[in-house]
Amino acid sequence: MASASNPIGIFDSGIGGLTVLKALREKLPHENFLYLGDTARIPYGTKSPQTIKKYLEQNLKYLAKQNVKAVVIACNSASSVAEEINFSLPIYDVISPGSRLAVEASKACRIGVIATKATVLSKSYVTHIQKIKPHVQVYQQASSLLVPLVEEGWDDDPVTNLIVYRYISPLLKENIDTLVLGCTHYPILKPAIRKVVGANVTLIDSGFALAKKLTEDLQQGVIMANSKDLTGEIRLLTTDSSDTFQANAKRIMLPLEIKPLEIVDIN
Ligand code: DGL
Repeated sequence: MASASNPIGIFDSGIGGLTVLKALREKLPHENFLYLGDTARIPYGTKSPQTIKKYLEQNLKYLAKQNVKAVVIACNSASSVAEEINFSLPIYDVISPGSRLAVEASKACRIGVIATKATVLSKSYVTHIQKIKPHVQVYQQASSLLVPLVEEGWDDDPVTNLIVYRYISPLLKENIDTLVLGCTHYPILKPAIRKVVGANVTLIDSGFALAKKLTEDLQQGVIMANSKDLTGEIRLLTTDSSDTFQANAKRIMLPLEIKPLEIVDIN
């Protein structure tokens, strides 16, 4: 039985989901969070829907065993195969809130999406966006090289700038006014992306959109809220040891101090 002090589970293949965790923590400082980075099996975004679904189910099962009170799928690639998943706890994906925010932002009704190959092939953003507003044009670009660059900590690097330019320039030719960062790793590249798109394209970060939805659900009692007198704790778990993860996590979560990583076996 879930209690109010149980953590909110959140997972991604690697450090990308920390961008979501950070947004959640800023809005919900009283909540406990248990983050799982499936670093032993990263990347997800180049794998088949069947494999990603298997990983998703294993991660959900593992987090449920840790007595979480809800789960956030802080991974677009896993969110793109999550539609028919059966789960006993409240579950949140990043594609639905990101799509809604993009539709609200786009005046020209021309939206670009950069994402992993798996997310692009699933057409999840196209489906969600056009369900909300059918005549919106959606232009997608698979940008698989960006995940390893972020995991390597190369977010401020000329090589990364060049690759970002190569991926995004075809979308700019379509006169998009809104760009969905359709992979939770990409908000870490926001400065590089902003340099390419200029000031007039709105960047959509689904972590922020999701934080709004989760806050509402906690206020409305869909999930039991932790006591406002407490400061929430964050535990970071990974499925493989990684010095780079620890160093990057420290940087991403600043000014928040993070505890040392715990390595877990989810099987
Ligand atoms: N950060 C994830 C996403 O949002 C997955 C990246 C990967 O493992 O390829 O899609």
